[in-house]
Amino acid sequence: MQKRLFIKTYGCQMNVYDSARMADLVAPLGYAPSDTPAGADLVILNTCHIREKAAEKVFSELGGIRRLKEAKAKRGERMLIAVAGCVAQAEGDEIVRRAPFVDMVFGPQAYHRLPELLARAAREGGGVLDTSFPAEPKFDHLPAGGTAPGVTAFLSVQEGCDKFCTFCVVPYTRGAEFSRPAAQVIAEGERLVAGGAREITLLGQNINAYHGAGTDGREWGLADLLRALARIPRLDRLRYTTSHPRDMDEPLIAAHRDIEQLMPFLHLPVQSGSDRVLAAMNRRHRADDYRRTVERLRRARADLALSSDFIVGFPGESELDFRATLDLVSEIGFAQAFSFKYSARPGTPAAAEQQVPEAAKGARLAELQALLQRQQRAFNAAAVGTTMPVLFERPGRHDGQVVGRSPYLQAVHADAAPALIGQIANVRIAAAGANSLAGALNEAGAAA
Ligand code: 5AD
Ligand code: SF4
Repeated sequence: MQKRLFIKTYGCQMNVYDSARMADLVAPLGYAPSDTPAGADLVILNTCHIREKAAEKVFSELGGIRRLKEAKAKRGERMLIAVAGCVAQAEGDEIVRRAPFVDMVFGPQAYHRLPELLARAAREGGGVLDTSFPAEPKFDHLPAGGTAPGVTAFLSVQEGCDKFCTFCVVPYTRGAEFSRPAAQVIAEGERLVAGGAREITLLGQNINAYHGAGTDGREWGLADLLRALARIPRLDRLRYTTSHPRDMDEPLIAAHRDIEQLMPFLHLPVQSGSDRVLAAMNRRHRADDYRRTVERLRRARADLALSSDFIVGFPGESELDFRATLDLVSEIGFAQAFSFKYSARPGTPAAAEQQVPEAAKGARLAELQALLQRQQRAFNAAAVGTTMPVLFERPGRHDGQVVGRSPYLQAVHADAAPALIGQIANVRIAAAGANSLAGALNEAGAAA
């Protein structure tokens, strides 16, 4: 009999990828995806630990799921509840203790064991905890194929992080750096394209530190991997995220010049423009290193659009340090960016330092975001009047409208038939908003 699976995904694209793999893992056991937790046979919360009060949010979500489980039990049926992801990794014991109705708790490096964990939970009546970092690489145990990809697909190539920025939980929740062998990545890329994907975004916590086994016996960097993937026929667009400025090496910069499929958009978090703060964050680069890297990238690919992450109010950040961040932003010019107030994550080094008062954090964040928003609006406004190839992904909100992405990752709305989904077409941009563009199909029609 068909069983129903509901997965709620929090946080980063890596979690989106992991959730899809979990669905693949349980599909052979008869679980089909459902878009509501009510009545589901298996509910998985795939959690994120990067933001403040992450665990509290999970416990409150679990309160609601528990009621659904009880309602189901009254009908004599069983709902299994799993907590996966980084909160599970960091706070597994606490979840088992505080939420005994949760059947399974497992971290990002153990989810390939999901079928086995399910069997154990059914047998032992719940309380199954697996927050180990298994010796066997997870990727060797994930099923091939599975759910059909969309027009744009994610492909995880690297996981974990050895950088230990002093604010960040990732090295603790995702574990040490691991790069998938290139042959495995290429095979998955080919499968995605055969399934209809025309754009692939390679994922990794620290993706430009990729150093996997190549298909030629050498160790490959990310640039080698991109070159190999660019040879897959009908794969029109490649992207990758997230990068560290330290690992932006010459071959990768050259890849931005040479690989036509590599889209001119790069998310390259800098976090701060102050050398003092960067040192305290253990970022291991200075603001000028970042400026130089961006210069080299722009020499390689003049129209490269940049995105970044920023943290304001890091312990010890003075008003002057913050001004240095604003200066850096003004100089570089970002197409979009994410910015956050520093929030102490238990167990990370910066959490133990003297904290910046909340009011100062709030004021700095507002000022930074106003500047970043002005830059984003200006970037979008500059597209008006130009014609860009847009990869259409889905129907729009209104009838007769389709939505896709520009090479620079801007959302683009256009009036066109749904048949255009999955195609790249030239769009003349007529209007720009804060977060998207709108235009009309160029009479020349489909570009590819
Ligand atoms: N406080 C605020 N922001 C954080 N980030 C990571 N950890 C913290 C923290 N403790 C931000 C960083 C990172 C992004 C994914 O989240 O900017 O690049
Ligand atoms: Fe976290 Fe990125 Fe620093 Fe690694 S490089 S510790 S993932 S912020």
